[in-house]
Amino acid sequence: MRLPENFVQEVLDRTNIEELVGRYVTLKRTGSNLVGLCPFHSEKTPSFTVSPDKKMFFCFGCHAGGSAITFVQKAENMEFVDAVAFLADRAGLPMPRESEERAAGEKVSRKRVLEANLEAAKFFRACLFDPAIGGPGMRYFKEKRGLSDATIKHFGLGYAPDTFGSLTEYLHGKGFTDEELQVAFLCGKSRKTGRSYDYFRGRVMFPILDTSGNIVAFGGRVLDDSKPKYLNTSDTPAFKKSNHLFALNFARHSGAERMILCEGYMDVIAMHAAGFENAVATLGTAITPNHARIFSKYTKQVIISYDADEAGQAAAKKAMQILGEVGIEVRVLRVEGAKDPDEYIRKYGAERFSRLLDASRTGFQYQLETILSRHDLSVGQEKIKASAALCAAIAEYSSAVEREVYLSEASKRLELPVEALRNNTEKIRRKKYEEMKSQQSRELRASIKNFGDRINPDSAKDPKAAATEEAVIGMLLMFEEYRREVAAGRIQLTAENFITEFYRKVFEAILKLQNSESGFQFALLGEEFSPDEMGRIQKAEMSRRELTQNGPDVFKSTVRNLVALSEELQNKDVDLQTRLENIRKLKLHKRKDPNE
Ligand code: UTP
Ligand code: MN
Repeated sequence: MRLPENFVQEVLDRTNIEELVGRYVTLKRTGSNLVGLCPFHSEKTPSFTVSPDKKMFFCFGCHAGGSAITFVQKAENMEFVDAVAFLADRAGLPMPRESEERAAGEKVSRKRVLEANLEAAKFFRACLFDPAIGGPGMRYFKEKRGLSDATIKHFGLGYAPDTFGSLTEYLHGKGFTDEELQVAFLCGKSRKTGRSYDYFRGRVMFPILDTSGNIVAFGGRVLDDSKPKYLNTSDTPAFKKSNHLFALNFARHSGAERMILCEGYMDVIAMHAAGFENAVATLGTAITPNHARIFSKYTKQVIISYDADEAGQAAAKKAMQILGEVGIEVRVLRVEGAKDPDEYIRKYGAERFSRLLDASRTGFQYQLETILSRHDLSVGQEKIKASAALCAAIAEYSSAVEREVYLSEASKRLELPVEALRNNTEKIRRKKYEEMKSQQSRELRASIKNFGDRINPDSAKDPKAAATEEAVIGMLLMFEEYRREVAAGRIQLTAENFITEFYRKVFEAILKLQNSESGFQFALLGEEFSPDEMGRIQKAEMSRRELTQNGPDVFKSTVRNLVALSEELQNKDVDLQTRLENIRKLKLHKRKDPNE
């Protein structure tokens, strides 16, 4: 069975990789990563790394690596689809219907789904406002979350009673069929009888509207600490998660100058209630390039206002990058003294939140302030530490112009000459580059010497080509921008340019996903490649991540190298002929030279 791409993404979004792996391995935190003893080979010192922020794992010892799905495949010895089902089950997501039912999905029109959603929203709202039914929901909204009647009505909030059949019966009465209700994701389908049952039960309901005012989906939150905290509509003929932002229907009227991007429904609602009607949130997923394009249609600036915890801050960094790519001016809000903006507004009020918004920083300023706040600059040692941290941060920027701008800012704040900071920064960049180079050649030598190479047997024949290919693949995996350029043919690179069969297959798979409707997602490579192969692909990406030399020029020149290598190989004989030809010409020429 082939899974819909966005379902796999949803499962991964809902999976906490740290917690998952933690069930098999004792993990210790080091910086933003976690390390432990590798469960896939025996070792005494930990080389197994989990990065919650990149949602992946990698073992520097045995090169096992990949997404949470790859991990389950290896740990539980499962096929790709079964591993997805395993994770979906933990996350409380129903597996997508089998093909027969998917065919039903094609028969139900978008219009019918929207009609069913509208009726369902009316039903949920009526339940919320009926004290005998919606009492728990109403108390939750008012007492726990401090919402007013006006806000509840403004957002059309509701309550799904804790029964299996109320909504189903109500909608049957309105003429909707089981098939329609199941396709609309309002109802589940009983395994035994095939009949419908209410999908959302005992939850407060958040309807999601598109910009034309259609109700396209719902999110439903539990009232206590049970799991999953939110259930959301999966994709239907009327809804695709990455095409929507919660509350954009309101925000688009007031967000011309700037919009606020929040993590959750409740943050958005709290902000609107406090007068910030330009707040929106993604729907239970990380922000995608498609969301970034939507933003760019409506606004010039986005202030990212995620939770104060580590996960929230990691997500903010990622969002900064994705929004930056479409040319939006991005700022990041620092919420201090509260876990999220919702709590902040309730604790300190709208006035203070507004000041926080005005004080939001651009990406670099945000790093600058974070670093400076950790050090007391009047103490010599501390000033040295701060400048080292800042140089390291600046060294991460691949554009020389950007580095210059930030160096001059840092120099002012630290009251140190810009040349000194520049020297340090460049030294860090060089060092990183050299470390990477020697690491790469060490690994390459080791892999050739020790095993030959099971995964990429061709690499022994042509190690230089394999290394170049790994670099190209690594950069393609890291940067959407390069994938787009290559897919569109703006950068000349084809499967024929790959010399080793393994990387050629990887390249083809990347392009195929890139051109698919839902776009490239790393974990989907797992459908085609074995867990061991996924480890190798993950390694290609890891190696590039460690490098700072990753700009477009580096990509282009690496691609040129690869193309040259492959042409050299293909034209070995032709090449000899041209060379002979040149020598002959040279001789002729020389004979004519009167000075000789
Ligand atoms: P949060 O857990 O930060 O939610 O997840 P929140 O909106 O602030 O909720 P409260 O304050 O605890 O009520 C952020 C968003 O991630 C999605 C939802 O869209 C949520 O608003 N999410 C979270 C889910 O889809 N499912 C979950 O189980 C958890
Ligand atoms: Mn919250």
